[in-house]
Amino acid sequence: MPFCIGLTGGIGSGKSSAAEMFGELGAGVVDTDAIAHELTRAGGAAIEAIRGAFGAEYIASDGGLDRARMRRFVFRDPDAKTRLEGILHPLIGAQSRARVAAAQQPYVVLVVPLLLETGACRDLVQRVLVVDCSEERQLARAMQRSRLPADEVRAIMAAQLPRSGRREQADDVIDNDGGMDALRHQVAQLHEKYLRLARRA
Ligand SMILES: Nc1ncnc2c1ncn2[C@@H]1O[C@H](COP(=O)(O)OP(=O)(O)OP(=O)(O)O)[C@@H](O)[C@H]1O
Ligand SMILES: [Mg+2]
Repeated sequence: MPFCIGLTGGIGSGKSSAAEMFGELGAGVVDTDAIAHELTRAGGAAIEAIRGAFGAEYIASDGGLDRARMRRFVFRDPDAKTRLEGILHPLIGAQSRARVAAAQQPYVVLVVPLLLETGACRDLVQRVLVVDCSEERQLARAMQRSRLPADEVRAIMAAQLPRSGRREQADDVIDNDGGMDALRHQVAQLHEKYLRLARRA
């Protein structure tokens, strides 16, 4: 297996932006959010299991998961959330492992939003990289990117680890309160470090 960095952070913290920059520098990038999307779009490997477990009303007219409806449902029903995760997590884990194993780059950045909350994919990563920024920035950026209303973003933030808990478990931290250039600079420095660590691994 290639040397693998688990990249995590709260909603809107800048995970996807950082991952893209690592990719531009030559790292392999595997994104578990993208995998989850593929699994739940029309024809995706999770669709029939979701239809069976939750009913056809959770499948949109295009044949993919009705994401907004499912998000609202699992938010008020923890048991439904557990059932959905029971379907998705094993599929995401298997896909992630296969993609990390197949990577040809010197190391791989595996983006796992809930790496520290659920322990998902923890066994695949040798180091934890946390992208961190203030909660006000997180809220503004998450709303800008996902078009979710403020109260939904706040509810998601409340269900995630607080910043301090995430930072405590990090091997490396990117402070993303600056602009894109500041982010790029930190990514470049970490890239050099990870190339060194990967050579030694
Ligand atoms: N340093 C920065 N300066 C300005 N804008 C930024 C910065 N970092 C990220 N953004 C912007 O903030 C938004 C959220 O960033 P991004 O999508 O990378 O976060 P994310 O952690 O992947 O979010 P999500 O949890 O929704 O997947 C995007 O519109 C992105 O362009
Ligand atoms: Mg993202």
